Order: sequence, then C-alpha cells, then structure tokens
Amino acid sequence: FETELDSDDMEKGTYPHYMLKEIDEQPYVIRKIIQEYTDSTHRLKIDEKISKAIQQADRIYIIAAGTSYHAGLVGKQLIEKLAEVPVEVHIASEFSYNMPLLSENPFFIFISQSGETADSRAVLVQTKALGYPALTITNVPGSTLSREADYTLLLHAGPEIAVASTKAYSAQIAVIAILANDLAEQKGCNISFDLDHEMSLVANAIEMLASQKEEIESIAASIFHKSRNAFFIGRGIDYFVMQEAALKLKEISYIQAEGFAGGELKHGTIALIEEGTPVIALATQENVNLSVRGNVQEVAARGANTCIVSMKGLNKSGDAIVLPEVHELLTPLVSVIPMQLLAYYAALHRNCDVDKPRNLAKSVTVE
Ligand code: G6P
Repeated sequence: FETELDSDDMEKGTYPHYMLKEIDEQPYVIRKIIQEYTDSTHRLKIDEKISKAIQQADRIYIIAAGTSYHAGLVGKQLIEKLAEVPVEVHIASEFSYNMPLLSENPFFIFISQSGETADSRAVLVQTKALGYPALTITNVPGSTLSREADYTLLLHAGPEIAVASTKAYSAQIAVIAILANDLAEQKGCNISFDLDHEMSLVANAIEMLASQKEEIESIAASIFHKSRNAFFIGRGIDYFVMQEAALKLKEISYIQAEGFAGGELKHGTIALIEEGTPVIALATQENVNLSVRGNVQEVAARGANTCIVSMKGLNKSGDAIVLPEVHELLTPLVSVIPMQLLAYYAALHRNCDVDKPRNLAKSVTVE
C-alpha cells in the first residue's frame, strides 16, 4: 500500500497543526523582517517616501480588525513612545459607521494580514474619498488594501494558514517598531536603543520559549482543565498583549476569555472570580510589576487559580513562566509566545479543531 501525502500534510511537515508550525516560525519571521528592512547603510529603514508622508501628519489613525487590531494597540505605544506622534487605534467596523472627529492632517495606517478584510476596506474607501493618505501593512502583496492604499509595507511572514493569527501579529509589531524607529530618527527624537540589535535578541528569546513547550503544555492542562472562562490581566503594554491572549484562547478552545486591565478588575469584573477561575497575569514592565502582582493577590484571595508570566529581572519565586529579558518596548513580541502556546494546548486538550475553529474564517470579506 502506498501512503499518499496530500499537499496539506507536506506543507505542515512534521507539525500536527499549522498553528504550531506558525508559532515556531516567529524567530525566522523576525530575522526575515530585519533582513528585508535593512538598507545599504546597514540600518533598519522604511521607504523614505513613506516616512516623509507620515511626517506631514499631526495624528496617525490605525484601523484594523481582530488580531491586527491588537497589534495596532501595541503599535500605538511604539509610535507614541519612540516618535512622539499621537496615535488613535480604531476597530474598522466601528470607525466606518461612527467616524470620530479627525485632526487637521491625519495619516491612516491599515493593518491587515490578508489585506482583504471588508471592514477595513470600507474605512479605506471612506478616507480616500476625503483625500487622506493611507499606508497598508499587510502580509499579502497585491491584496485589495495594498492596491488601494497609497503605500504598502509588507510583513514577509510567509503564508499564514491557521485561522488563528500568530506569526502575522508578531510581524505586524516588528514592522511598526521599524516604522516608529525610523520616524523617530527622521524627527531627531532621542532613541536610546539599537533596534536592529534588540530585535535580534527578541528572535533568540522567542526561540528559547519555543523550546519550553512541554512546560507550557502542562500549565495549559492544569489551568484550563474544565474551565468555562478565563481572565488575562496586565497593565499598559501587557494589557494589550492580554487582549490578544484572550482572543487566541476564545478562537480555538471556545473558553470564554477576557483580556482585562488589572486595575479595572475591582470595578465590576472581580465579581466573576470564583473558586478555580483561571487568571493569567503578565508582568513585563517595571513601572507596573508590583501593581499587577497586587491584582493577582486580590483575585487569588477570592479563589482564582492564578498563573504569573513575568520578565526576567522582574520575576519572583512561584512565577509560572519567566520570559528572557528584552527591551521593554519589544516585550509583546516575546510575551505573546506563551499565550499562543497556552491557547494551542488548551484547544488540543479539548479536542478542538485547532487550525479551523468553528464559525471563523481566515479572511472576512463581508462587512
Ligand atoms: C478574521 C480572522 C482573524 C483576523 C481578522 C482580521 O476575523 O479570523 O484571525 O485577525 O479577520 O484579519 P486581517 O487579515 O485583516 O488581519
């Protein structure tokens, strides 16, 4: 008998699922982005035309959906902290029906893995009609959003097949970090780090985490065992990553999950904490490390099953996962890895269809 491998199996190689393969590809994606965006003077740069156009703006509007929206939230931090340009991030489907008051010289950035999301395209059509410039950050050259915007930056992440987005999220953040760094250089802002070097450290850190799968699998098995719901808490940039962490868990394991700002829990949501409720906390930022840990104590006192993921240097004994240290603005690229893996293993243990979750499509081309 001949065993026939279909093209699907061949592309997955030895991986049981595309999602796991794509999680593992993230260090290569970061290195590929460094390579693609390094110019002849060995500096990380974006096309000069694009940085000049953005410099004309008094405010940047990021428009996206789903995971790309979460990358946009991190992107806002990077652009505001490095380049000191105000940024608003909007859910595409909300923006198109309820446009906020715009600044005098807005610049629009559309983030979309597929470049085909109808909700984002609807906004692009509107803002183009108003004459505003737009850049699309996408994984797919020649996609609708790329063709219709004035400028495009590519993610170079390779095809993403699993419905739940993983490597595209990291690629989006990495490309926005390069854009933010470039804008900061053009504006003469004081940049205290060498992005090229820091991104290489990120790639190594992701590799280290990807080798801790067994540990992460056993945490997923113990914390999400039979749970109906879960909370992911953090503050600042960690809060944004936890919104993505919750989305990943919801999408593929069908556990009701919420990403929450640690300090806001006490204003209502803490009522949902009962014996055994999983609460995963992320602590990668020095300024909020202690306050996040305080929030963990609050929920633990009410019976929550807590799990702290912290960055080396800020870790305390008992933390479930300690992330290798990277620059504080780039932590989302590293902290999202255990979150993606926790979601993957939770789904696996519940026998869910990891790559093709129910009711979801990779690309949603209807509004
Ligand atoms: C769909 C997918 C999500 C994705 C979102 C935005 O809902 O299921 O995983 O994040 O679309 O897609 P885009 O291609 O615009 O990034």
